[in-house]
Amino acid sequence: MLKIFIKSITIIFVCTFMSSAHAGDASKGKKVFNKCKACHGIDEGGKNKLGPNLWNTVGGPIAAAEGYKYSKALIAYGEEAGTWNEENLDAWLKKPKDLVRKTKMIFPGLKKEEDRANLIAYLKENGNN
Ligand code: HEC
Repeated sequence: MLKIFIKSITIIFVCTFMSSAHAGDASKGKKVFNKCKACHGIDEGGKNKLGPNLWNTVGGPIAAAEGYKYSKALIAYGEEAGTWNEENLDAWLKKPKDLVRKTKMIFPGLKKEEDRANLIAYLKENGNN
C-alpha cells in the first residue's frame, strides 16, 4: 500500500515537473530576452531596430512587422509557413540559419531547450493571440 502511494506521488511529481518545463516560464524568458534586445523591441507599436519589433510574434504572421525590410529568405519562408508557432519558433531560436538558411538575423542560437521554452512563453505574453 505504501509503495503504491509513493509511486503515485512520484508520478504526480514527475508529471508536474515535465509539464512546467514544457510550458516555459515567462519571467525567466524575460531575462533570456536580454540577448535579443540589442536588435529587437517588443512593446506594442514599438519601433523596429536592426531587427523587426516582436510584439505579437507567437500566432502572428511571419515577416509582417510594418515598415521593416526583411530578407527575401524570411519572406519566402513566411509565404510557405504562414505564422510563427511554438514549433517553428523553437527551431528558429535554436539556430536561425538552420530554419531559414539565408536569413539576415545574425544570431548563433540558444542551445538550451529550457531557455527557448521560457523565451517563447515570454514572447506569448507580449502579444494578443
Ligand atoms: C544581431 C541582431 C539580432 C539579434 C541579437 C537577434 N535578432 Fe532576431 N532578427 C534580426 C534580424 C535582422 C531579423 C530579420 C531577419 C530577416 O529578415 O531575414 C530578425 C528576425 C527575427 C524574428 C522574425 C520576426 C518576424 O517578423 O517574422 C524573430 C521571431 C526573432 N528575430 C527573434 C529573436 C529573438 C527571440 C532573439 C533573441 C534570442 C533574437 N531574435 C536575436 C536580428 C537579431
